[in-house]
Amino acid sequence: MSLMHDPNSVDPTIEGVRLRDIADRFGTPTLVYSRSEIDARVTRFVRAFGELDHLPCYAVKANNNLSILSLMAKRGTGFDVVSGNELERVLRAGGDASKVVFSGVGKLAEEIDFALFAGVLSINVESSDECELALERAALAGIKAPLSVRVNPDIRVSTHPYIATGDKTTKFGVSAEKALSLLSRADASPHARAVGIACHLGSQMTDAEPLVRACSLLLNLVDELQARGVALELIDLGGGFGICYENEPEFGLDEYVRAISGHLTGRGLKLVTEPGRYLIANAGTLLTRVIRTKTSDAQRFAIVDAAMNDLMRPSLYQAWHRVSNACPSSDEASDGPWEIVGPICETADTLASGRELAIAKGDLLSIDACGAYVSVLSSNYNARNRVAEVLVDADSMRLVRRRECLNDQLALETPFLE
Ligand code: LLP
Repeated sequence: MSLMHDPNSVDPTIEGVRLRDIADRFGTPTLVYSRSEIDARVTRFVRAFGELDHLPCYAVKANNNLSILSLMAKRGTGFDVVSGNELERVLRAGGDASKVVFSGVGKLAEEIDFALFAGVLSINVESSDECELALERAALAGIKAPLSVRVNPDIRVSTHPYIATGDKTTKFGVSAEKALSLLSRADASPHARAVGIACHLGSQMTDAEPLVRACSLLLNLVDELQARGVALELIDLGGGFGICYENEPEFGLDEYVRAISGHLTGRGLKLVTEPGRYLIANAGTLLTRVIRTKTSDAQRFAIVDAAMNDLMRPSLYQAWHRVSNACPSSDEASDGPWEIVGPICETADTLASGRELAIAKGDLLSIDACGAYVSVLSSNYNARNRVAEVLVDADSMRLVRRRECLNDQLALETPFLE
């Protein structure tokens, strides 16, 4: 559950700012982020790793708003990026390239060049072809490429199948055997440094055990490489630390750190993690207004002004987000169960189903845990404008992304209209 505001409160606030005031000022739908919640999550995450030599690299894909990246940079985090544009965003927000790891299976030559010239900590390669390309580009640039190899440890995790990445049927990483040969190749090349070994098992994991197993598997490879004279500097165990959306347990960070500390202590390796959701999901709330209600023979619908283009997770992953009535607007409210749906012409446009809430036309609803994988997954489907984003900091509220307008959409096409 979001720690930011009490959904049972009659007039809920984020950091003392009333949700209804945010909606009045910026309109709806609007994504609201809480700075204190982001700070609290970063602090909690960093503290959990105690004395370990640890660099948390915030996974930019979870939320790449410049103001959020800037907050992370100010807290000293590194960044995990998966495209040249994500790297550019990090740099524009004041992030430090020497704390950036560059992941992903499809890096392009120009993206590798950009990472090399920016001076990233590590380029995590995921195939022989990508490794060769990195060596080629490094030779041309005259810069030694800092290379890590992402291993596919063939470990299944319990999460939605679309976001499980650690078993061998997925496109991610290379086998342990291949990792050994690629890192030996990088080490032997005058154009690279073999800096690390990496993995990422999946997202929204609640159990630490598979990650601990992956850690020990990767450390065996580190030992094997050491025996071949290849000394690595870092081990990157990826992200995937799950949060509580409904009533699932949050990922057991303390248990995880206790278990991997046993393996890592005294090895002189830097531990890199790539937390995305854990740092930012709970800090975001989507505010949406009930346009009208509608009752069919079978269901009662609250039609709201947010839709699947704004919040894709329920349609794409059957995700559950807590919905509360942030500001009941009348005494005419009817009890549920409610289907909370958007205006888009798809039955998949259901943000929440079967919710027991008292709702009336005009009410302001808040949808929790929308800080991660909400804004970044949004689209212009049905020619809808992307939502405004607001950061609440102490008792002030600040626009950090203005609401799109139709001209923003048209500008890419009107010059070509005949
Ligand atoms: N590192 C790598 C290499 C990743 O692929 C990901 C996420 C992360 C780190 C961060 O994972 P996190 O700590 O946020 O779980 N759109 C989906 C989640 C996709 C995750 C993709 N990779 C969702 O809304 O649940």
